[in-house]
Amino acid sequence: MAAPLADLELIDPGEFARHGYPHAAWRRLRREAPVFRSERHEPPFWALVRHAEIVAVSRQPQRFLSAPRFQYIPASEGESGEFVARTIISMDPPGHRRYREIASPQFTPRALRALEAEVDRIAGDLLEELAQESPSGECDFVAAFAAPLPIAVIARLLGLPREDWPRLYAWTNRIVSASDPQYRDPGATADESRQRATHELFAYFAELAARRRAAPEDDLVSLLGRARIGGAPLSQEALLAYCLILVAAGNETTRNAISGGLQAFLEHPDQWRRVQREPALLPRAVEEILRWTSPVVQMSRTAAEDVEIEGVRIRAGELLVLFYPSANRDEAVFAEPERFRVDRHPNRHLAFGVGEHFCLGAHLARMELVAAFRHLARRLEHVELAGEPVRLHSSQVGGIKQLPVRYALRADARRAS
Ligand code: HEM
Repeated sequence: MAAPLADLELIDPGEFARHGYPHAAWRRLRREAPVFRSERHEPPFWALVRHAEIVAVSRQPQRFLSAPRFQYIPASEGESGEFVARTIISMDPPGHRRYREIASPQFTPRALRALEAEVDRIAGDLLEELAQESPSGECDFVAAFAAPLPIAVIARLLGLPREDWPRLYAWTNRIVSASDPQYRDPGATADESRQRATHELFAYFAELAARRRAAPEDDLVSLLGRARIGGAPLSQEALLAYCLILVAAGNETTRNAISGGLQAFLEHPDQWRRVQREPALLPRAVEEILRWTSPVVQMSRTAAEDVEIEGVRIRAGELLVLFYPSANRDEAVFAEPERFRVDRHPNRHLAFGVGEHFCLGAHLARMELVAAFRHLARRLEHVELAGEPVRLHSSQVGGIKQLPVRYALRADARRAS
């Protein structure tokens, strides 16, 4: 007999580290209780697991607020779950739009076109560095490729030198994934680690912003230095918060789409061979990787008023948790949702969210993923798992901390010529 729904574990970070995403529980809820009140953790929350309800809620930002809690962390983790600074991800209308519009013109497909060759070069160079070190052998794919690629891209956008990549990497881990004991400062709680890392990042960007104000360059920090809200320059606090969200939002997410994507290909070798044979399929393959890996596990919203969803009454002040990986396997939207198919089309996945807070960096992330898998498909002659992947202790970002692989790289024909 099936266990009572009340016993389903949906959000415990330790379970995510041990077993990965609870797809069986989500599948059951989609069928039996698509708007489900989970009381296993404090505070209780309403789990939304189907595509339709997640879209409907995300499209009503005045009724379902991102402040004060834009992501859910169980109280038992001893974390507040709140960012040290207010960033666009936890703002609501009408202020949210005004702040988002400061950076959004830089992230349109047209604006990013100028960056395409650069992103492609970064991905190619990272593989070439690995080849120079050792054209075949074993490595941790996360450390060698999946983590440095998005770091290098955001560093380029913000105008940061290569020697600062390790700092960006450490700050991201300590801010986004402090829930994982490995990424906490020794002896510190998750909140303390997150706060310290945020203050270090602020000090770094305060100094950089002062230099860019004096001598602007063609980068996002200079743009933020010039930006105005209601005719006045951005406050120092708002400028630093912007730097924080740009660094924090795009790193772990893209890293985990790359490592999760490779893992998906290792588990589906026929799909890997197909992408290697037909590189024109890459854009579709990337959408399928996003659907399949869904690196952001959930975002949360607070009901601003009493509402009813699918006949279930939700009261003002109650929390809703939007489980994107579940929506991305919704049988009502995707044919054969449990199959990983690089030619899937259409693919209306919600990996980037939807509506008011739709991922600002979606086009950039897609560009990085296409470049990453183009180079991997071209150069990886052989790849296989060389050990157990290690998952992140987090139910916010579905992460792979280590992906040990045995590999052999082909020489890069274009470099040789
Ligand atoms: C595969 C990679 C990525 C995934 C899966 C992802 C996913 C998401 C999701 C689910 C949201 C929240 C949507 C909502 O609340 O409705 C979001 C917001 C956001 N993302 Fe991404 N993201 C990725 C990469 C990036 C990159 C590369 C950047 C840019 C540097 C970025 C910047 C942002 C920002 C600034 C927001 C807040 C937008 C707002 O509140 O208006 N993301 N992302």
